[in-house]
Amino acid sequence: MQQKIPYIAISLIYWKCIMCGIVGYIGNKNATEVVMNGLKRVEYRGYDSAGIAMFENNKLNVIKKSGRLEELIGIVDTNLHHSNIAIGHTRWATHGLPNDTNAHPHTDNSGNIAIIHNGIIENYRSLKKILTQKGYFFNTETDTEVLAVFIASIYDEQKEKDMSEAVRIALSEVAGAFGLVVLSAYEPDKIICARRGSPLILGIGDNEYIVASDQTAIVAYMDKVIFPDDNEMLVITKSGYIEKTFDNVAIDKEPTKIEFELAQLEKGGYEHFMLKEIMEQAETIENAIRGRILLDSGDVKLGGLREVTDKLRDAHRIILTGCGTSWHSALLGEYLIESLAGIPVEVEYASEFRYRNPVLYKGDIVIAISQSGETADTLEAIREAKRKGCVVLGIVNVVGSSIARATDAGVYLHAGPEIGVASTKAFTSQVTALLLLAILLGRMKSISAPDGIEYLKEIKQLPEKINLILKDTSGIQQIAKRYASAKNFLYLGRGYNYPIALEGALKLKEISYLHAEGYPAAEMKHGPLALIDDDMPVVVIATKDSIFEKICSNIEEVKARGGHIIAIATAGFEGNGFLRSKADHIIEIPETLYELTPILAMIPLQLLAYYIAYELGRDIDNPRHLAKSVTVE
Ligand code: F6R
Repeated sequence: MQQKIPYIAISLIYWKCIMCGIVGYIGNKNATEVVMNGLKRVEYRGYDSAGIAMFENNKLNVIKKSGRLEELIGIVDTNLHHSNIAIGHTRWATHGLPNDTNAHPHTDNSGNIAIIHNGIIENYRSLKKILTQKGYFFNTETDTEVLAVFIASIYDEQKEKDMSEAVRIALSEVAGAFGLVVLSAYEPDKIICARRGSPLILGIGDNEYIVASDQTAIVAYMDKVIFPDDNEMLVITKSGYIEKTFDNVAIDKEPTKIEFELAQLEKGGYEHFMLKEIMEQAETIENAIRGRILLDSGDVKLGGLREVTDKLRDAHRIILTGCGTSWHSALLGEYLIESLAGIPVEVEYASEFRYRNPVLYKGDIVIAISQSGETADTLEAIREAKRKGCVVLGIVNVVGSSIARATDAGVYLHAGPEIGVASTKAFTSQVTALLLLAILLGRMKSISAPDGIEYLKEIKQLPEKINLILKDTSGIQQIAKRYASAKNFLYLGRGYNYPIALEGALKLKEISYLHAEGYPAAEMKHGPLALIDDDMPVVVIATKDSIFEKICSNIEEVKARGGHIIAIATAGFEGNGFLRSKADHIIEIPETLYELTPILAMIPLQLLAYYIAYELGRDIDNPRHLAKSVTVE
């Protein structure tokens, strides 16, 4: 990847984990406070229940509560706890009700060992049976409790007591995925943690450490981190830490600096992170192109791909893969790369890719696209591609994430942390990165230097044009008010704007809970037209381009059946006369090259979804049933 993070071939066999947030602290501060603050940062990873364990008054104190983190905050007064060591968890349940009992931390039978866990212990049933025969008992139905008891059973049998050794032995016998943190009253001067498949990061301060599933839980207190790899564990005391493999081989990693600032994790005066992130897009596009555009020669420089330039040039085929919003940018990437570079591209849902035995050749280049860099389905697709001998690249936002490290090379987005569950700024940055890649490949093939210069000049103007769209959102707010009571929406686009129709519909679905579908506009007549009546708002991307006339015909078809048209149009375009006569509402975006239009067209659609969800009083940053980082297959 761009920031030189060496490729490490991680085992992806066990990517079947639940999405949870984990945080642990050891140092001289009030550990309860640090962990509770950290949990607020990782709550996006799961919000069914939460819990904390601290060592105080010579024993472990475990407090846990079902519901949002707020519930736990309501019963944990950090001023009343004076511990220097604590661990905490936010849960996204896959099996087992999200109740108080199933919340983490889980303890062994004695209550002296507490663990928090992000993942699934696959052989927990057989372990439970053996442990039950040995006389151990269980209070919950979770796999995590079994792991706590299993560790305790090994510790109980040790002649020379050593908790980290008990954890190490236990982990070498369990199957499954884990980001695990252990706190024990037997050895209360240390936190022991380990990972296989689930993210885990160590923050390094002065005589204090934070271990967490995300850097966002660390950055308020320290800015140096290391990224343990799969099958590695850490034994952390106030005065230092040991990193080793499960085979007891010592590891020494150079700490890296966290790339973002604490302020980026705040709402900065906006009511929701989503709105803040929409409003940041001029800046994030600027970040995505900084240092990558060589205006004089019309070339693109993507430093992270330098090593694989020859392979890219010689590729007979590129396969783009991702999930959800990232899949939509992959689709746009297909259009861009095929048209600008003439290289055949296929787009695959990462979640389908490995199950359908795809035909892959050695010269194929697979590019995985991901905001979080932790999506389990995408990681599995990477594994499948590597198994079949492909070069695998990444287009990733989160620096040091599992996908960034599992790929051979790649491009970082530099969009900063995206906290709102609905992806916005990461999407436009992904499309920008793909556009740059398409031009880079195109310049190796058929794009002339003057054409390259023209593309790059227009790309440079994107931030300014984005700001024009964002300057006044009152028109979009009015439209949102008007249609918030609708039950169904259609989004139509053609060519480069078809993936934007899909993404616009996804945005609306996930935060407003309204039904919305995206379609290639011309497909309407092959079926979906039957849905149109005078209750149906139809959002149409009808910008100035070579297929504008065709889109106009599609608009006529909808209007003739009573549908309401919300058109995204190019400001100042003479063709808008037609739109004015037919569309119920027009949202204008500045003119740009056709290939760049999707980046601008996406922004009003993000705002429309946001304001409709706002009208409906939805929980915009944390929509029901969803979590930001989908580390479950
Ligand atoms: C939608 C959304 C999801 C993600 C998908 C992949 O707004 O955020 O559809 O795009 O879960 O996530 P990443 O990009 O982190 O791999």
